[in-house]
Amino acid sequence: MRKQIAAANWKMNLTLDQGIKLTGEILSGNIELHDHQQVVFGVPFPYLIAVKDKIKEKANYFVSAQNCYFQKSGAYTGEVSAEILNSVGTDYVIIGHSERREYFNENHQMLAEKINLCFENKLKPIFCCGEPLSVREANEQNDYVETQLKESLFHLSEQQLTGFVIAYEPIWAIGTGKTASSAQAQEMHAHIRNVMASKYNNDVAESISILYGGSVKANNAKEIFSEKDVDGGLVGGASLVASEFLTIIQSLK
Ligand code: 13P
Repeated sequence: MRKQIAAANWKMNLTLDQGIKLTGEILSGNIELHDHQQVVFGVPFPYLIAVKDKIKEKANYFVSAQNCYFQKSGAYTGEVSAEILNSVGTDYVIIGHSERREYFNENHQMLAEKINLCFENKLKPIFCCGEPLSVREANEQNDYVETQLKESLFHLSEQQLTGFVIAYEPIWAIGTGKTASSAQAQEMHAHIRNVMASKYNNDVAESISILYGGSVKANNAKEIFSEKDVDGGLVGGASLVASEFLTIIQSLK
């Protein structure tokens, strides 16, 4: 079975004390994870070391950065490279979140570079894609997402994409309380898998974990995750509340 993942994206929230307390509360939920299940904490850069230290005894718990820079190293004041992230024990990196695409003008090419740097530095990318409301209303979401995949992932090898992680996050569902229906999520996830199968092959496509993101909560996670092509979630607001996120973890297949 491919990996089923409950990934928290704390975004720019919580102080260090609050983040460590939340991590502790989630760990003390003592959820028995199966081998194919993972929990990922996507935390602000300064908390990576502390959260990693907190989860180190627990199998199947990982820490993720929310971004990295698209250049290897050098005079880029304020930026954080994939190499730096690897050196502090980071496991995953969220790449191409819609908030970064929108507010920081990240384009397909920059995201492709970031993914390459993740691979060079033994970090696992969580590649985000998803359409804005106007595109959904025009019923052009399939082409839109296909372009995002093509432009940032199609240069990768079969080997790199085996076990890769994609998060489908329709922008109109992020932070709005409005989720895609489980049928809409399933439809897009199946489309993403088909796009990957057409470019690569079925084995590669079937190995990719496709997470859904956009107003995942304790009360809708089970239904969304039960869809055949939905392999867990990338969770914003509800990942900041221990009881909510614990229920979301327990909703994994
Ligand atoms: P919400 O769960 O707050 O809608 O955020 C989703 C998201 O952007 C996760 O990356």
